[in-house]
Amino acid sequence: MDNLNNSLRSSIKDKIDDVSPHPKTKAETDVTNTHTEGDVLPSIKSKPERNFDSELKIENPKLSIQSLKAWFSGKLALKDINLDVKENCITALIGPSGCGKTTLLRCINRMHDLTPSATADGKIILDDLNIYDKQTDPVLIKRRMGMVFQKPNPFPTMSIYDNVAAGLKLNGIKDKNLIKEIVHDSLHGAALWEEVKNDLDKPGISLSGGQQQRLCIARALAMQPEILLMDEPTSALDPIASSKIEELMNDLKKNLTVIIVTHNMQQAARVSDYTAFMYLGELIEFGQTDQIFKYPKKELTERYISGKFG
Ligand SMILES: Nc1ncnc2c1ncn2[C@@H]1O[C@H](COP(=O)(O)OP(=O)(O)OP(=O)(O)O)[C@@H](O)[C@H]1O
Ligand SMILES: [Mg+2]
Repeated sequence: MDNLNNSLRSSIKDKIDDVSPHPKTKAETDVTNTHTEGDVLPSIKSKPERNFDSELKIENPKLSIQSLKAWFSGKLALKDINLDVKENCITALIGPSGCGKTTLLRCINRMHDLTPSATADGKIILDDLNIYDKQTDPVLIKRRMGMVFQKPNPFPTMSIYDNVAAGLKLNGIKDKNLIKEIVHDSLHGAALWEEVKNDLDKPGISLSGGQQQRLCIARALAMQPEILLMDEPTSALDPIASSKIEELMNDLKKNLTVIIVTHNMQQAARVSDYTAFMYLGELIEFGQTDQIFKYPKKELTERYISGKFG
């Protein structure tokens, strides 16, 4: 996406942002990236050797989740979640099945609203816009956030090219050269261009699972999202395809903010800057990934990341 220059970027945004402007707050880059390539799950130590903030405070969060509760048919699925997400970082959500990770992602982009009988309460502030304010248009929120699901879901009847172009066309962009440029840049951004550049007319579903997942990432990138939400994006992929997506995430965070749900502890430790551990609808512990995996403060976190349950 580096090729996508600023004027093109703002031109796309002008065309797709037909509701209201959303000023972008630049986060201070005061926290170091805590992972290195090839990290494996570090061993848990009882006493911190490094000084981690006792109360981690994210300055100028891109997204601030405040007192969020969510219900399905009156049953509480998320209990008072408070979590700040730092811009241009990767935040991993971990926790056992059913603890509310997907529900949290779906609250963030207001997909939760689409489930009959689902309700939510609290605030989610994107820059300075409350996503749950009555006046906030959910369509605008969805445009500012891309989502990638566990199972790659390219549009089955569309070519590779049209899969990436679909959202732009749907938003009324007609300039063929502009669409071509964005498709090209998005496929580059998703590290797929070299593999598909001669097959753009072939069906999206003719690609391998790993390629389909990168096609879905390209489709999301074409809309110039500020936040990319990924729900177990590699769980259906082999290790090579998974590592391509992990490398890609590292590149993507230069331009956007990533929140990833993963059951793979090694993956969370390798790719993320921050980790949030959830259990039974609650946020148990949040911190720099290094701290969570090496020096968890809560016994429950330690038991989960060391595989004692889950
Ligand atoms: N559409 C739905 N209708 C009713 N209850 C739901 C629905 N989706 C999720 N739930 C409930 O909400 C809770 C949280 O589910 P969620 O899918 O967010 O968990 P998760 O952490 O993503 O789990 P997994 O790791 O298995 O994907 C669970 O108790 C689940 O049964
Ligand atoms: Mg889930």
